[in-house]
Amino acid sequence: MTLLEKAQQFEDRFKREIPEDKRPLFHVTPTVGWLNDPNGFSGFKGEYHLFYQYHPYSTKWGPMHWGHCTTKDFIKWERKPIALAPDEAYESGCFSGSAIETPQGQHLLMYTAMKQVEKEDGTLEETQSQCIALGDGTTYKKYQGNPVITGADVPAGSSPVDFRDPKIWKEDGKYYAVIANRTDDGSGAILLYSSEDAYTWAFETVLERCRWEYGDMWECPDMFVLGDKRLLIISPMNMEAQDLEFHNGHGVIAMVGSYDKTSHVFQREKVCALDYGFDFYAPQTMETEDGRRIMIAWMQGWEGSGCQAYQTKWFGMMTLPREITWKENRIYQQPVREIEKYYGDSCTYENQKVDGEVSFPKVSGRTLDMTVDIEVADKNEPFYIQLAKNDKNYFQVAYMPQTHTVQIDRSKAGNRHDIVSRREFFVSDRGGKLRLRFIIDRFSVEIFANDGEQAFTSTLYETPMDAENITFHGKESIITVKAHKIEISNRMPL
Ligand code: FRU
Repeated sequence: MTLLEKAQQFEDRFKREIPEDKRPLFHVTPTVGWLNDPNGFSGFKGEYHLFYQYHPYSTKWGPMHWGHCTTKDFIKWERKPIALAPDEAYESGCFSGSAIETPQGQHLLMYTAMKQVEKEDGTLEETQSQCIALGDGTTYKKYQGNPVITGADVPAGSSPVDFRDPKIWKEDGKYYAVIANRTDDGSGAILLYSSEDAYTWAFETVLERCRWEYGDMWECPDMFVLGDKRLLIISPMNMEAQDLEFHNGHGVIAMVGSYDKTSHVFQREKVCALDYGFDFYAPQTMETEDGRRIMIAWMQGWEGSGCQAYQTKWFGMMTLPREITWKENRIYQQPVREIEKYYGDSCTYENQKVDGEVSFPKVSGRTLDMTVDIEVADKNEPFYIQLAKNDKNYFQVAYMPQTHTVQIDRSKAGNRHDIVSRREFFVSDRGGKLRLRFIIDRFSVEIFANDGEQAFTSTLYETPMDAENITFHGKESIITVKAHKIEISNRMPL
C-alpha cells in the first residue's frame, strides 16, 4: 500500500467520528487530524481548489501531506481525496506550495519536498527542494523529473536547507515563482525564479531581504498586483513587536511597492501587518475570473498551536476567504461577498440607545455575520461588545474612542490553556464613530474594522457552544446593528 492509500484509508476510517456540529459551519477544517498552511489556492475548471498542510494521523504537526477540498463560492466546501503524501525518495514531507492551470488543462502543483536523512551521529540532515505534481482536480501524480529546483540552484549566500513554499504565477507568457529562503546572515530573503514551461527553472534575483528588520526566517511568500501596487506578502518568524504591531512572533506582513518587470526589481514603499489578532498565518491569494484578489490564511498562530482544542479529533481551521483591495493608500479586507448567499434569519436594529447593558432578541448565535455601527457620546467612555456569551463565558471587544484603539479579550472565553488572551490595535479616528463587522463561526471570530481597514482573527476553540448571547455596553451611545444568521445545508459532505 502506498503512503497515499494508507492516509486515505485512515481518513475513511475515522472521519465519521467527528460530528458535524463539532466543526465550524463554513470554515475549512482537516478531514481528521492536523491542518496548517493553505496551499494551491487556485481556480481550476470552474471551481476553486484549496489544499492544505495536513497530518491526518494526529492533531499534532507530523509528516506533511496535502489535504484537498473544492468550492464554487468559498463558503460551501466539498472534500476531495488527499492529493499528496510524502512517498518519494526525495521527500519526508510535502511542504507548502501553490497551484496553476497549465495550457494543456492540467492542474499543476508546485511544492517543497522536505527531506531529512539521519547521519551517523544520529542528527538529522535536512534539505528542501521544489517539486511538481500534475492532476485533473481529483488525483495528482508527482512529476518524474522532480525535484525541479534544488539547493544547487540557490545563489551564493543562500541556504539550501531553508528554501521553501514556492508561489507560482504566470505573467506576460512566462512562469514565475517566489520562494522563501534564509541567507548567510541567518535572516530571511525571497528568491525569484522564472520558467518558460513550469518544469525548467532559472534563478532570477533576490527580490527582498530581511536583514533582521522583520523577524528572521521568512516563510510562505506571495506576490501579486493589487490596484496600482505590487504586493509581496510574507510570513516572518520571530518578529519583534513594535508598539501595537507584530505581536504574534510568527506573523504576517505585506510589503507594498512597485515592481519593474524587466529588471525584476521590487521597490518597497510601505510595510503593514495584515491581521491584528492571535490566529492568522501563512496566507495565500488567488485571483477570481471576475478579477477579485481573494486571500485565505491558516486561522492559527504557531505558538498557540500546541494548545489543542479540548477533546476534538481535528485541529486547525482556515480563515474565511477575504477580498483584498488597495485604496486610499491602504489594504482593505472584507469577507467574500458570497457569504450573503447564505444569509438566513436577518434583523436590523437602528439607532438604538445604549446606556448600560443592552441586548436584542434576535441578535445572538455562533454562526453569524453581524455589523455594528457605534457612535459614542462621551469619548472618555469605552464601548463594549460581549459575544459568545453565557452566564460564565464571553469574548469581549472594547472600543476606546480616546486612544482610537480596539481591545480584544478572550481571557473569559473558557480557555483551558494559558494562551495569549489580550490584544489591542489602532483604528482610524472618525470622531467617536466605529464600524465593526463580525464573522462568527462556532470556534472563531473574525473582526473587520471600518469596512476592512483592519482585521482581527481569533479562534474560540474552547468556548462552550451554549455561549451564544451578544450584549452591548456603553454610556449614552447610539448603535445600529445588522445581523444575519448563516445557514448552510448539506455542507462538506464526507
Ligand atoms: C509555515 C510552514 C512552511 C512550511 C510548512 C510546513 O507555517 O512552516 O514554511 O512549508 O509550514 O508544514
